[in-house]
Amino acid sequence: MEQHTLFSAPSGETGILSESAQPSSSGVFPDKAEFHAPGSAPAVAKDMDASRAAVLRAELDHHNYLYHTLDAPEITDEAYDRLFRELVEIETRRPELQTPDSPTRRTGGELLPYLETRPHSQRMYGLDNVFSPEEWQAFVQRARRQLPEASDGIMNEWWADPKLDGLACELTYEHGVFTQALTRGDGETGEVVTAAMRTVRNLPLRLRGNGPFPARLEVRGEVLMFRRQFEELNRRQEELGQKTFANPRNAAAGSLRQLDTSITAARGLRFLAYSAGQIIMERGGEAGRGPWETHAELIKALREYGFETPTGGRLCRGPEEALAYCRRMEAERDGLPFEIDGVVYKLNDRDAEEALGFTARAPRFAVAWKFTARRAKTVLERITIQVGRTGVLTPVAELRPVSVGGVMVSRATLHNEDEIRHMDIREGDTVIIQRAGDVIPDVVGPVLEERRADSVPYEFPRRCPVCGSEASRLEGEAAWRCLNMSCPAVLLRSMVHFVSKAGLDVQGVGARWVEELVKAGRVKNAADLFTLDVRELLGFERMGEVLAEKFVTSLEEARRTAPLERFIAALGIRQVGEQTAKTLAAHFEDMDALERASQEELMRLPDIGPEVASSIRAFFATDSNRTLLERFRAMGLWPRRREQPMREETALSGRRILFTGTLSRPREEFQRMAEEAGALVASSFSKKLDYLVVGENPGSKLAKAEEAGIAVLDEKAFSALLDRKGEDAAR
Ligand code: IVH
Repeated sequence: MEQHTLFSAPSGETGILSESAQPSSSGVFPDKAEFHAPGSAPAVAKDMDASRAAVLRAELDHHNYLYHTLDAPEITDEAYDRLFRELVEIETRRPELQTPDSPTRRTGGELLPYLETRPHSQRMYGLDNVFSPEEWQAFVQRARRQLPEASDGIMNEWWADPKLDGLACELTYEHGVFTQALTRGDGETGEVVTAAMRTVRNLPLRLRGNGPFPARLEVRGEVLMFRRQFEELNRRQEELGQKTFANPRNAAAGSLRQLDTSITAARGLRFLAYSAGQIIMERGGEAGRGPWETHAELIKALREYGFETPTGGRLCRGPEEALAYCRRMEAERDGLPFEIDGVVYKLNDRDAEEALGFTARAPRFAVAWKFTARRAKTVLERITIQVGRTGVLTPVAELRPVSVGGVMVSRATLHNEDEIRHMDIREGDTVIIQRAGDVIPDVVGPVLEERRADSVPYEFPRRCPVCGSEASRLEGEAAWRCLNMSCPAVLLRSMVHFVSKAGLDVQGVGARWVEELVKAGRVKNAADLFTLDVRELLGFERMGEVLAEKFVTSLEEARRTAPLERFIAALGIRQVGEQTAKTLAAHFEDMDALERASQEELMRLPDIGPEVASSIRAFFATDSNRTLLERFRAMGLWPRRREQPMREETALSGRRILFTGTLSRPREEFQRMAEEAGALVASSFSKKLDYLVVGENPGSKLAKAEEAGIAVLDEKAFSALLDRKGEDAAR
């Protein structure tokens, strides 16, 4: 799922985000305070604003929860933005109606002078590790010995969930309202990251449900960056010439510990809850740990309060189940959207947990089973320099191939000059590499004892290795860049980007072929790709008929059907990634409208700051870009904004459909109808089709469809489908 493009006012503009105007964020925020807020507006208007604001907050909270926690949105991003803006408008006009749990505060914008530290009310312990079934058994037996009075049943039930590789954080809720976030720190004291955590979209600012809520509830969990956000962030950082992060955990830590919380807001962090700290109930009772008798019940309650909890958490009964759980998670780890480095087992019974208590370092009722590290030792043969689409020079470690956790690795990124200098990594060194996450290999560092006597420190080149022009390192950037706009490497990478997944997503046109065509001098820019025909392609070695056909039809399909947001993303405008492209495509009719937009108009859009706006303006001001755009326009690659995706699913939403034969009206008309109903109109036959609509003389496609078991429709059946809603559609 994409992030919501939350409306974010440029810092300071609305004044709603300044700490001074807020009620104290550490105090308890009374329910419905907005109705008692002081102010000078007429009483009636005041009540209307106040109650509307309360309604908007509740609605936004609800949609936020559906989107970010359940991953099941019910309204479009635009509808969400409208509600959000309405609330911003009220809170700007009537600052006394702001509340600390208002969704408007999720956009960040608070500037902290430094990170304050505060003590935890209960120490946050680390966990002891086990690495084998024997060690796990020994741990369980020790717990049994320490609690001889507990029944076998109790000592046999362990709650297991993935060990998340992020950073631990404790959230405090007072009477259901989020009031504080502390990092784990040294376990005794943590850093106050309340403002930053407020921007984390899946964090409930107010507990869900009708209460009564605990007077104080401390929720513990891990702050994470999911892999997708991590990759996107590194791409963006690279584009900006900023330092990239070695792994999602570093990225999460760096993003959370920001003084400017709008940076945190833009990083897409998540919070997954896995346990509780202090719990004080409203009317005494169950002192310190709340009414939940088992860990499973606690997790269920946290979910009902609106927290996301680690995927795959479950109760294991007995050592076999526990062992099977660990094996399964280890096998599945690469398929998870976030990184894990083991599993955590916690005794399910919370009385037993309390009775067992802690050693000096760690709990006796919980333990981490760490997966074997996916590291390996190999030789760094050479450092080569890759030139990216934006001219960034990225050093790449060329390794003697080695298997790491079952995957052969022969290259790894070294990020930038500083990283190499910092690790003092040299050509010829023996190095340790590891696979963080699924396939991204990472150089951990050199093995100094094995360094050759004649090795010399690596000198980062000062020239582009491809075009030879002088590279430059701009102030505040970590990267060296080639600034030559017609550097062959930059042009090639831009073209590869244009057809890639992040761009128009043209199937069958891979980097290798683009490279080949460039080398042959046949294409010089992305528009040239569309001038190739099958015959010409067949002239290239290793190009077969099937591939050539696919190449041409895929480009043709992209030309006809590319949505505006993909087209914008494909152009590779600096600092305009997929998310920004979406925002632009939702607001501008087409490229002409985007070109006309002023800096100010651009900056009024969500997530677009002065730098992004300038970069868009600069793109249109560059002659070569304008020439390229004119060529796209002339060939009919000129998408227009799509009307909002329909709320209602139709029977054709997301289905691939192909028309063939002579129909009663022009084929384009049918194609348009299908597209409007959300179908993906194909231009050639493939086994992935859902429907083939046939007219007179359908030709060979009909037989192929029948053979492949694809539903064949005539015009009448197609019209009937158009009128049907999603739920009752025949598959
Ligand atoms: S429970 C008293 N569950 O691992 C035990 N911790 O190495 C409370 N961690 O500091 C921790 N995933 O930050 C628990 N599913 C999970 C976890 C988890 C990651 C972290 C936690 C802790 C560290 C110890």
